[in-house]
Amino acid sequence: MLDLSTAGESHGPALVAILSGLPAGLELDRAAIDADLRRRQQGYGRSPRQQIETDEVEVLAGLRHGRTLGTPLALVVRNRDHRNWTWGMDPWPPEGEPEGKGTKPVTLPRPGHADLAGVQKYGHDDVRDALERASARHTAAHVAAGAVAKALLGAIGVGVCGEAEPEHGADPAAVDAARKDRDTLGGTVVVRATGVPPGLGSYARKEDRLDARLAATLMGIQAVKSVEIGDGKEVAGLRGSEAHDEIYPGPTRRTNHAGGIEGGMSNGEEVVVRCSMKPLPTLMRPLASIDLATGEPAQALVERSDVSAVEALAVVAEAAVAFELARAAREKFAGDALGDFVAAHRAYLERINRV
Ligand SMILES: Cc1cc2nc3c(=O)[nH]c(=O)nc-3n(C[C@H](O)[C@H](O)[C@H](O)COP(=O)(O)O)c2cc1C
Repeated sequence: MLDLSTAGESHGPALVAILSGLPAGLELDRAAIDADLRRRQQGYGRSPRQQIETDEVEVLAGLRHGRTLGTPLALVVRNRDHRNWTWGMDPWPPEGEPEGKGTKPVTLPRPGHADLAGVQKYGHDDVRDALERASARHTAAHVAAGAVAKALLGAIGVGVCGEAEPEHGADPAAVDAARKDRDTLGGTVVVRATGVPPGLGSYARKEDRLDARLAATLMGIQAVKSVEIGDGKEVAGLRGSEAHDEIYPGPTRRTNHAGGIEGGMSNGEEVVVRCSMKPLPTLMRPLASIDLATGEPAQALVERSDVSAVEALAVVAEAAVAFELARAAREKFAGDALGDFVAAHRAYLERINRV
């Protein structure tokens, strides 16, 4: 079973990802992982933080001479910005006088962020204790893991690609206008996966359904508020004769309204998933809030922040979809060695006459 755990705060020393359940013998390309980390940092409307960080992956375990050992793979992405927060984000009681950032408690929760519910839930006095993990910074760890998942999927001919939807997103003119107004934007991204064999996921239990799993992993990304598979909610207004993808000898289809998923399983067509993010909650023109220290009306926290993160979301969503497809492929094809996994995939395609 392919599994992922991550840890790390936005301004802490590093982000960590541990992947278990990879087969042995998978070749990883450090440059490809770093390229995805760099893609996540780009996009029009990102904050100046992205000029401080030059994310790159370090591997602590599970890899030898560029090949997986079949043991847990431990990845680290260091936060370069941590050097400005060594006192404020010291994992241990800090020594010496307070210096740098994060030395004063934050008491001004931002509407739309995890701040208010986070301090209530965990009993924190300082909003920073909630926001540091709630922040989307740790999506860098998920992108590193997604790059590994893409390498695994590549071994069975599956490709995954995410991109912002220009017509629903934040184009440079919209970003410039929002920045001028000290406001923020949301937007929509689409992820497409090609070469996905039929039969990933299952109708057997609702938690096995591939559509449910993709929706859960995408909704797990900060700020994502809706997910659509294929034509999504558009089909609600169509007739059955317009909405379904008729089957022709091959078997083959001429349309893909279903986005490559029927009955909770991939059906052999391109998997197409969209997700939409709300406008980011940190505004340079702060929204109304309260000061938690006094209970009095106040303006929300203003902290360095993106105006738009839609292009970053495309990379994060791509990684999430890749990881979930890789998990489903591991369930179907298993194998301790990469060759076993690839052979099981090939034997399956032969059985269903797809080779
Ligand atoms: C790639 C990415 C970058 C983000 N950058 C910011 C940011 O700079 N400022 C901000 O306020 N929110 C940002 N967010 C959104 C917040 O992390 C998110 O709104 C917050 O954690 C609350 O969670 P929720 O929106 O799911 O309710 C970003 C989200 C993503 C996916």
